[in-house]
Amino acid sequence: MLQLRRLIAYHAHRYYALDDPEIGDDAYDALVEELKQLEALHPDLRSTDSPTQRVGAEPVSELEKVEHLEPMLSLANVHSEPEVKAWVQRMEGHLRREGIAEPRFRFVVEPKVDGLAISLLYRDGLLERGATRGNGVMGEDVTHNLRTIEAIPLVVDGAPALLEVRGEIYISTHDFAALNERQAQAGLSTFMNPRNAAAGSIRQLDPALAAQRPLSIWCYQVGVTDGLTFQTHFEALTWLRCHGFRVNDDIRLLDTEQEAIAQCEEWERRRREIDFEIDGAVIKVDDLELQRRLGAVGREPRWAVAWKFAPSTAVTTLIGVHWNVGKSGDLHPYAELAPVTVGGVVIRQATLHNEEDLERKDLRPGEEVIVLRAGEVIPQVVSPAPHVVERSERPAKPVPPARCPFCGTPTIKMPGSVFTRCPNVACPERRRQLLKHFVSSTAMDIDGLGEKQVAMLQQHRLVETPPDLYALTAEQLMALEGFGEVSSRKLISSIEASKRRPFARVLFALGIEEVGEVTSRNLALGFRDIDSLLNAGADEIAQTPGVGRKTAAMIRHQLDEPSMRELIDRLRAAGLQFAEGGPPPRDGPLAGRSFALTGTLPIWSREQASEQIQAAGGRVLSDISAKTDYLLAGDRPGSKIDRAQRLKVPVIDERQLREMLQGDRQSAEGPAES
Ligand code: IVH
Repeated sequence: MLQLRRLIAYHAHRYYALDDPEIGDDAYDALVEELKQLEALHPDLRSTDSPTQRVGAEPVSELEKVEHLEPMLSLANVHSEPEVKAWVQRMEGHLRREGIAEPRFRFVVEPKVDGLAISLLYRDGLLERGATRGNGVMGEDVTHNLRTIEAIPLVVDGAPALLEVRGEIYISTHDFAALNERQAQAGLSTFMNPRNAAAGSIRQLDPALAAQRPLSIWCYQVGVTDGLTFQTHFEALTWLRCHGFRVNDDIRLLDTEQEAIAQCEEWERRRREIDFEIDGAVIKVDDLELQRRLGAVGREPRWAVAWKFAPSTAVTTLIGVHWNVGKSGDLHPYAELAPVTVGGVVIRQATLHNEEDLERKDLRPGEEVIVLRAGEVIPQVVSPAPHVVERSERPAKPVPPARCPFCGTPTIKMPGSVFTRCPNVACPERRRQLLKHFVSSTAMDIDGLGEKQVAMLQQHRLVETPPDLYALTAEQLMALEGFGEVSSRKLISSIEASKRRPFARVLFALGIEEVGEVTSRNLALGFRDIDSLLNAGADEIAQTPGVGRKTAAMIRHQLDEPSMRELIDRLRAAGLQFAEGGPPPRDGPLAGRSFALTGTLPIWSREQASEQIQAAGGRVLSDISAKTDYLLAGDRPGSKIDRAQRLKVPVIDERQLREMLQGDRQSAEGPAES
């Protein structure tokens, strides 16, 4: 049992702290299962430091107040380079008075994680108590909840008699989005931000609730210890990392304040790339003896400061609203802004999702607007600045252009559509967008044809519509800049290979509005070939899973357009697949069964799993309903899993799907009927 506990703790550390698992989930679960069984046989050998006991604790009736062994301090803020320099000078002055004439500073720069600070107390290597920061002197005992966090070790090998570790509890941006979606699906209120969600979860009375929340930790300090000394902070962080604690790998030790500032700026740039929210960077003096000499003023240590990021909203002038054209001629507005720095990045443009969005926000060119960069990379225009809306005279509202900005054709707006569109099928921008979509990896997947190459082919008038691709020759390509003989022949052969893509992919590549990957698969499956689809009425199309009456009418309308017919005819003549191949699926082992998919599967991509299900006669639905037969779920499932549970739809994994595909009906649902 001891061996098993160690093994499980080791693999949990690889998975939760290092993000680098050595074994699969199944193998890990098997180890835990084995330990649970042994503990059931020998209840006397079960102990609170066993990995099986993370969630086992009883709810507490209230959170007990506890005193920290040493106060948990907060940090003074700096916002600019001169402020950092002033801080360093203050430290030098203080140390001079202490009799240290020329201190040599080295600095550690860490992310300032936007979560909540906690303290973990280990006695003889066992987690004894975990507490919130509280007012810095007194915190609340939340041991029962902290124990449920897999990234926090319950046992520390080689620990001194007393060890305090401090860190920040947080929820990753990705987990936060999924958590809020689950809350919403379950009819519960959603959280404001990851910080609130983490703080609320840690202060729960019932650890079973905290265990359901995707909490993690970044450790950033060794607090009180008895029997362990370090010379430097960086050394202490390295010790923590080597003893099972989760310490960020991008924490750097730097020789000068200049380098420290550059590193803070680097964190600001990286802010959008990382999977957790940070509201700044922390600069700490590395030498612990100097730290001790510097001490604290009030609640703030002299030896560290928080470099706070510039706010991620800004006010700027909306210069104008311009319009992009999509592959079906739909016009999308975007904002041209007077350049402004938001969250450390200069913004000149921002999306405005569609006409309704523009109308709702009541934006007027020439006025000041509020620009926001939230968790996402693409900035948004939130609203006009408050002071401008009170003006009695405001500039006119922007309206969709009367003529396509790319080809000059008069635009139209169909009743019921949210988009104004360019009706010209020969519009160069529409064509460019369609070509881009056609060759993309989820459509015809033509290797070696990116946006740049497509633009070049269009420019040289070699390719204007997708069928032109299939008439290209290697000689024509070789005449273009950047194409050698090898790359030209390679491209021709990948264009050739795309002729073998299944019907569903071809349907998707046509760029019919409202026909995404799942719908094209279902259409291909339902109609089997293009002629049946072209001859079908809107009512018939509406029988397709996930296609409503309105969408069916839109699909019907687009299929009737002469340009669409020409596109289909020419692609068919080029030899693309316009019929489902393979055995008629009604005979397959999954005939009559419907599946929805969620999460990342261990082996297959979702695409591959869908193709397998369909080849075996099953249907793949884009969403789940009470009539869905199975939910195939992988790692990090989305909200569908909650809905499946509510609707009592059985949830299966990839292995079970494979069994079903082999016709092994018995294992999935009892004896076959006939
Ligand atoms: S050091 C004396 N390091 O920021 C040292 N704090 O404003 C004080 N925080 O309460 C803490 N990331 O919640 C430190 N890498 C980091 C941090 C960090 C986030 C939070 C922590 C603290 C607050 C101080």
